[in-house]
Amino acid sequence: MTRLVILTGATGGIGSSILRGLEGGSDMRVCVLTRNGAFQREGITSITADFSQPGAGYADELAAWIDGHRDIGEIALVLAAASIGPINAIGSFGVAAAENIQINVTSQIRVIDTVVKCAQKNKAPVRIIQFDSGAAYRPIGGWALYCASKAYVSMFLKVLASEHKEYKIVLFDPGVVDTGMQKTIRDADSDAFTDRDYFKSLKDDRKLRDPGDVAKVVLDRYIWDWKAKQLNERCGAYEQG
Ligand SMILES: NC(=O)c1ccc[n+]([C@@H]2O[C@H](COP(=O)([O-])OP(=O)(O)OC[C@H]3O[C@@H](n4cnc5c(N)ncnc54)[C@H](OP(=O)(O)O)[C@@H]3O)[C@@H](O)[C@H]2O)c1
Repeated sequence: MTRLVILTGATGGIGSSILRGLEGGSDMRVCVLTRNGAFQREGITSITADFSQPGAGYADELAAWIDGHRDIGEIALVLAAASIGPINAIGSFGVAAAENIQINVTSQIRVIDTVVKCAQKNKAPVRIIQFDSGAAYRPIGGWALYCASKAYVSMFLKVLASEHKEYKIVLFDPGVVDTGMQKTIRDADSDAFTDRDYFKSLKDDRKLRDPGDVAKVVLDRYIWDWKAKQLNERCGAYEQG
């Protein structure tokens, strides 16, 4: 039986660390969806997917890739792609709101929907790892689009979990991680973003998590094994015991 792992955000801080950890897995095929072209690595299939674009040809390509396998043991979907921007006050977004929603919501839903459809067709078990955020549950000035979009996908997956109790689904909050997203946050200059000094202090005080450490937790808990005790989990909450 072949295990299929599908990864978005494979070029980002957390996603790229996960991809490195997946290399060499036996009886496993990996597919990454990235906007900047193909990964030239053995055992990895790359589909070009710019999630900011409304056309979703990547969904058809992903479905064809899944359906092209025989004896699928499981389909694992790791959703690491997201955009924090634009960080700004409500009233200033204009058309930029639509782009954020396209990346963070519409495209993610499209990928999830495709995976569920293919899983049903191929009678394959499913596991989904979504990178959740405190921002989905706590309003942060300037982050309206990001907060709302993370909340949307989290609730969408909670509904999926209620429709398919047999699926393994986790909404994993990695904490504050030293990635490009955190740099974008520190560089934001909107007055609406009143927490900026706090995020800068986390970097200055070396309190950001290392993306490799976060990836290791994800791989150990949710990819090589399944140790999720509940739908919502936080990095650091379980590793000690
Ligand atoms: N870092 C944190 O502190 C933190 C905290 C809580 C939750 N999270 C969540 O963890 C996940 C990973 O975050 P990260 O910090 O690793 O982010 P990151 O370094 O900013 O990487 C984001 C990833 O998303 C991809 N992406 C962005 N826009 C895209 C588009 N239009 N089409 C296709 N791919 C696109 C990026 O691709 P490109 O390389 O092409 O830009 C990149 O691979 C995200 O879901 C984030 O919400 C992060």
